[in-house]
Amino acid sequence: MTRTVAIIGCGLIGRAWAIVFARAGMTVRIWDADPSVLEAAHDTLRKACHEVGEDPAILANVVAVADMETALDGVEWVQENGPERLDIKRAIYADLDRLAAPDTILASSSSAIVASQFAEGLAGVSRILVAHPVNPPHVVPVVELCPSPGTSAHVMDRAEALMRAVGQVPVRMAREIDGFVLNRLQAVLLAEALSLVAQGIVTPQGLDNTIAHGLGRRWTLMGPLATINLNAPGGIVDYLDRFGPTMARLSDGAARGAAFDQNTTRIIAASMPPPDRVQDLSRRRNERLAQLAHFLKSNEQDH
Ligand SMILES: NC(=O)c1ccc[n+]([C@@H]2O[C@H](COP(=O)([O-])OP(=O)(O)OC[C@H]3O[C@@H](n4cnc5c(N)ncnc54)[C@H](O)[C@@H]3O)[C@@H](O)[C@H]2O)c1
Repeated sequence: MTRTVAIIGCGLIGRAWAIVFARAGMTVRIWDADPSVLEAAHDTLRKACHEVGEDPAILANVVAVADMETALDGVEWVQENGPERLDIKRAIYADLDRLAAPDTILASSSSAIVASQFAEGLAGVSRILVAHPVNPPHVVPVVELCPSPGTSAHVMDRAEALMRAVGQVPVRMAREIDGFVLNRLQAVLLAEALSLVAQGIVTPQGLDNTIAHGLGRRWTLMGPLATINLNAPGGIVDYLDRFGPTMARLSDGAARGAAFDQNTTRIIAASMPPPDRVQDLSRRRNERLAQLAHFLKSNEQDH
């Protein structure tokens, strides 16, 4: 029997998830509170497939439905992608929990709102979690699985297995924390990046080159911990012995939240392509991410 999932909220992230599940051969029911979004969904999905070299034939697995109840009928997983607003998430989860069968897992794409904030007090709290993707999830596979204190371990196991089955890379968190893992890491890196530019130590281009052609090159293949394990002949213990005190000094002196100020925003904005190029540049970025994902996958299979 074909596995079936529902996508609730079919904007940027919901559509990308639809591609992830559809290309894994699952039936995908999509629903959005705005009927015009649903009407346009198949066209937009077709364009998104072309952009990343995905066969649009997979969209035969995607069915747009007129109401939430129909979307939820018999599905094993709901991926919710409504707006990042607590009042809206609370209202959506009250409906989802009332309408979905008891063994259906309800997962939110929420970027920052933790599950306890919209799941607490609901009868089905144990089947609700955050499954936070990175934009766009059909070409960037990591997904952070973050439980609320009420989420059951069995639901986390099923979530992890489903994400692997559709080709994503789940990162299972033991408990809730503000920003999950990815954005906590991104925040400290961005603060230091903004501060170095604001102090005039490096240009925005130089800063971006440092990551794109430096740290980021290695991080495409492995994370920062596996990286430092290779950065000293004796592995990570040797690395931390040699460089730990320097890294500790630098991190103690690193920039904090004050780095996110308007003056720095102005300096960096002046060096960036204008906002009317964002859409085109994002499309090109997604094409290249898809090529990279393809290369990395075929390369893994060679080893
Ligand atoms: N954009 C990103 O980079 C990104 C990355 C990771 C996670 N997220 C998270 O994914 C979620 C969706 O973000 P997005 O960027 O796709 O936003 P979006 O604005 O593109 O899409 C939101 C969709 O939800 C629909 N909607 C509004 N109210 C609804 C309701 N009550 N029920 C069902 N649908 C409703 C809207 O019509 C819209 O189509 C947010 O929680 C966001 O934080 C976004």
